[in-house]
Amino acid sequence: MTVTVGPPWRVADPEERLGRGLVFPSVGEYPIYDATAYETMMADRPRVDAFTAGLRASVRADSTVVELGCGALAPWARLADDLGAARSIAVERLPEVREAARRLIAEEGRGDRVSILSPEEYIRHDGHVDVLVAEVVGTIGGSEGAADTIGAEVARLGNPGLVVLPGGWETEVRGYSWAGAAAGHLPAFPPTAIPYLDQLRDIDGADVDPRLCVVGPHIHEGVLTAGGVIEVGDYRGLHSEHRTGAADLRAITSGSLDSLLLSVRVTIGGAVVDSFTQETSWFPVIVPLPEPIDVTPGTVLQVRAEAGRGAGGSCLDYRLSWDVHPPDGGRASGVVDVPWRASGLGTNPLTRMLLVESVQE
Ligand SMILES: C[S@@+](CC[C@H](N)C(=O)[O-])C[C@H]1O[C@@H](n2cnc3c(N)ncnc32)[C@H](O)[C@@H]1O
Repeated sequence: MTVTVGPPWRVADPEERLGRGLVFPSVGEYPIYDATAYETMMADRPRVDAFTAGLRASVRADSTVVELGCGALAPWARLADDLGAARSIAVERLPEVREAARRLIAEEGRGDRVSILSPEEYIRHDGHVDVLVAEVVGTIGGSEGAADTIGAEVARLGNPGLVVLPGGWETEVRGYSWAGAAAGHLPAFPPTAIPYLDQLRDIDGADVDPRLCVVGPHIHEGVLTAGGVIEVGDYRGLHSEHRTGAADLRAITSGSLDSLLLSVRVTIGGAVVDSFTQETSWFPVIVPLPEPIDVTPGTVLQVRAEAGRGAGGSCLDYRLSWDVHPPDGGRASGVVDVPWRASGLGTNPLTRMLLVESVQE
């Protein structure tokens, strides 16, 4: 059964289509966070294990630990407290989320050791910080403003020994066949996306295309090329770096290149969480191209990324320039924008197909 949600997006039961052709809005950058989102992140084993190990390795009895972007559960400020840190400070910009975190800390009787602060309150804190935890990395690494948030804090703290968790990320790109992975299904959101689509519409006050992620067990079936890194964030001590660049991707199979797939590899202490190879709460982002292009092994796809501030402030807009070089000559190229917020509905082939009025299943 297919139902619609206004805007008239196609919503389908994942089981009926064996998990194929499913997309989910990328939500963190808008920012849309609810209790389910925070719980989902805490059920993400690779992520939780990596932060737990990173904190165990770095928290000492005299440590001050800051969790910048603590959400409703302030998990890393609470873990630091459990590990015996002298002081934990948890900072959250969303007021109602901050209140939920405050209630939790009070209920758990941690109020004398763990402070929940707004960014404005925190900025007045000028004490020494040993460990900075800032899980503000997006589905495209810098898309939630991590470069600004972490970079500015590393500079402000000025501690050469500062441990930063995560210490950075790499955003990877691959040539992708969305239609190949969907195997004949039209794109659809799973019902679990409905609350987020509703919130997105409420925030925007108008109907716009969301940034889309691919989900489900068949994601890898659409991969046409090897991966390459197009964005790097790197933070430790006084070091703070964010850059975008280009990658040459060799086709590994034949298919119809209709999109680019962006995934993120997040370095957390000694661990790496990869949204391409692991099942994690970071989902790979899909960027549709205007027209499909046939590729064969030997084809080289060059992709160059640029990131800039737009309407989303530190939540970045991305622009991807692509060139396809088939082995027997000829060339196709173009530029595709991945804005923080699109300027309408049906701005690309994938969202046009997601609108039920345009194509009936
Ligand atoms: C991905 S969630 C992480 C929540 C929790 N730290 C965890 O790891 O489970 C990111 C949180 O950071 C908050 N956030 C993002 N940027 C922030 C900033 N510059 N200052 C304070 N909070 C921020 C968001 O509102 C959101 O609640």
